[in-house]
Amino acid sequence: MRKKILITGGAGFIGGNFVQYMVNKYLEYDIYNLDLLTYAGDLTKHKEIEDKKNYFFIRADIADRETILALFEKEKFDYVVHFAAESHVDRSITDPGVFVRTNVLGTQVLLDAAKLTGITKFIHVSTDEVYGELDFDPTTFFTEETPLQPNSPYSASKASSDLLVRAYHETYGLPVNITRCSNNYGPYHFPEKLIPLTISRVLNEQKVPIYGDGKNIRDWLHVFDHCAAIDLVMHEGVIGEVYNVGGHNERTNLEVVKTIINVLGKSEELIEFVADRLGHDKRYAIDPTKLEKLGWKPKYTFETGIAQTIQWYLDNKEWWEQVISGKYQKYFEKQYSI
Ligand code: NAD
Ligand code: TYD
Repeated sequence: MRKKILITGGAGFIGGNFVQYMVNKYLEYDIYNLDLLTYAGDLTKHKEIEDKKNYFFIRADIADRETILALFEKEKFDYVVHFAAESHVDRSITDPGVFVRTNVLGTQVLLDAAKLTGITKFIHVSTDEVYGELDFDPTTFFTEETPLQPNSPYSASKASSDLLVRAYHETYGLPVNITRCSNNYGPYHFPEKLIPLTISRVLNEQKVPIYGDGKNIRDWLHVFDHCAAIDLVMHEGVIGEVYNVGGHNERTNLEVVKTIINVLGKSEELIEFVADRLGHDKRYAIDPTKLEKLGWKPKYTFETGIAQTIQWYLDNKEWWEQVISGKYQKYFEKQYSI
């Protein structure tokens, strides 16, 4: 029997890359991409796979209980890989409500549906931001045992969903894994996040806003390395376990922006220091030893990854210009109906 994999949020950045990775790698799996197509969802990225026999798109809201239950009852999925979320910290500061609805309630609806219909495994894609922040001591890292201390409405909503996933495992025996990754970058990254925003603005000779003094540190992970990590956890992860995914690529925001400006041969005068983000986390850094023991190793360094990413943005100007203008949401002709 062909296995059925439900990927939520597969029109977004990481979910979209993972959908393409799975459709191309596992011809023996049927891949169902479920996405509401919010401002962050875009299907034009899937034009190369949309006619493949093992790919299906479902437009639905993960918080719509009736629809989600009907879908799970009909398809009896083998795996759920759950990416769908509101994902931008700045938006969570101005409008936290939708983060609770999508990230907390939406996750709980999916967990219920998986519990009621049975599943081989539910993989919940979370973030290192649930651990809060580290100080600038370079010898300290987040491990899977670090207590959850989220600081933003975004990370609080993700931590809440992590705890629900854990509770469904402990209470009902639902087979789950949670992955917590550092900041991703790569193709099809929506240009509201630091790296794609910087690349697109520098290419258009526009100022690049740096919050505060630019010394905050993030640990950068190429999205292709992240896809391989989730594939491994899906197939080899021990049920009930949490796995951190990190690139060992810590950079200050100022270093990231300067690297992009220099690779593109533009002037550092494009940098503009602006007011700091409220509650701005100082530093994130992951210890990925547990996942490495399972057999994962990133292929990209920050230097090779950022070069690949910048080249992708140079080659795909039409995509990110459409995304920025908001005129890109092509409706999918072959929509699956529940
Ligand atoms: P994204 O914002 O690019 O994509 C999110 C997708 O979810 C979009 O396609 C959107 O349409 C969809 N969506 C939103 N609300 C929905 C709903 N109610 N029902 C169905 N679909 C809905 O996000 P991303 O950057 O690809 O992040 C994917 C996951 O990875 C998220 O869970 C996020 O918390 C996590 N994560 C992201 C990063 C990162 O650096 N981007 C880092 C750590 C963890
Ligand atoms: P972001 O890409 O929003 O990811 P996250 O907040 O989830 O880490 O931001 C990455 C870092 O870059 C964060 O420290 C905030 C900073 N930042 C800026 O300085 N300027 C910007 O315009 C943006 C979007 C982010």
